[in-house]
Amino acid sequence: MIHLESIEKVYRTEKIETLALSSIHLDVQEGEFISVMGPSGCGKSTLLNVIGLLDAPTQGTVTLNGQPITSYEDRHIARLRNEQVGFIFQTFHLISDLSVADNVEIPLLYRRGLSGSERRRMALEALDRVGLTSRVHHFPGQLSGGQQQRVAVARAIVGKPRILLADEPTGNLDSAMGDEIMGILENLNKNEKTTVVMVTHDPRLAERTGRIVRLFDGRQVN
Ligand SMILES: Nc1ncnc2c1ncn2[C@@H]1O[C@H](COP(=O)(O)OP(=O)(O)O)[C@@H](O)[C@H]1O
Ligand SMILES: [Mg+2]
Repeated sequence: MIHLESIEKVYRTEKIETLALSSIHLDVQEGEFISVMGPSGCGKSTLLNVIGLLDAPTQGTVTLNGQPITSYEDRHIARLRNEQVGFIFQTFHLISDLSVADNVEIPLLYRRGLSGSERRRMALEALDRVGLTSRVHHFPGQLSGGQQQRVAVARAIVGKPRILLADEPTGNLDSAMGDEIMGILENLNKNEKTTVVMVTHDPRLAERTGRIVRLFDGRQVN
């Protein structure tokens, strides 16, 4: 499902070069739930962005669903990302003046051939999955942090992506709310067979996943 071969990522700014990832080989099978751990700055977010086709590696190849990614300019890549990958971040990135339902519909606006009522139906279904049907007309500012993250999860899954990438999804939540989000990710993994890659600092959550990938200074250490 996800195949990374000899991935290297160097960030170049005027003065410094940062080797954010080096010699990364990673295979993630369909239906796996893996977590990525490591100290701050070790390359976890960069790895997720490379897997999710948000960022091109400087060396190496990314293969998604058997398709090697050769050009990142391609319109085709934007479509592949929109259809196959859902993202969840530590900060929820909701749009404060859109309702919960409208926030969840956003990824669907880039899909051709969906009517407004179809988009709404899909958004309500996604919100049902995260237990938020009673909040569809609320605005993000009227929700708790945990509820906002559940909206962000609904937005990530509304297009039924095969891969869900979560970058410290519980980092801004207390442990009860974090457990709730973790439970939702586990359900999606189990019931929808969604492949999940989650960055976390919480060893308790990491242990619940099938496999832990550990990074240190841009390299895989296990
Ligand atoms: N856009 C960028 N430009 C330059 N350096 C970056 C950029 N993004 C990340 N880095 C650097 O790359 C390294 C890895 O960053 P990151 O992947 O965000 O680590 P983590 O998510 O594990 O904290 C860090 O040294 C960081 O400063
Ligand atoms: Mg990070």
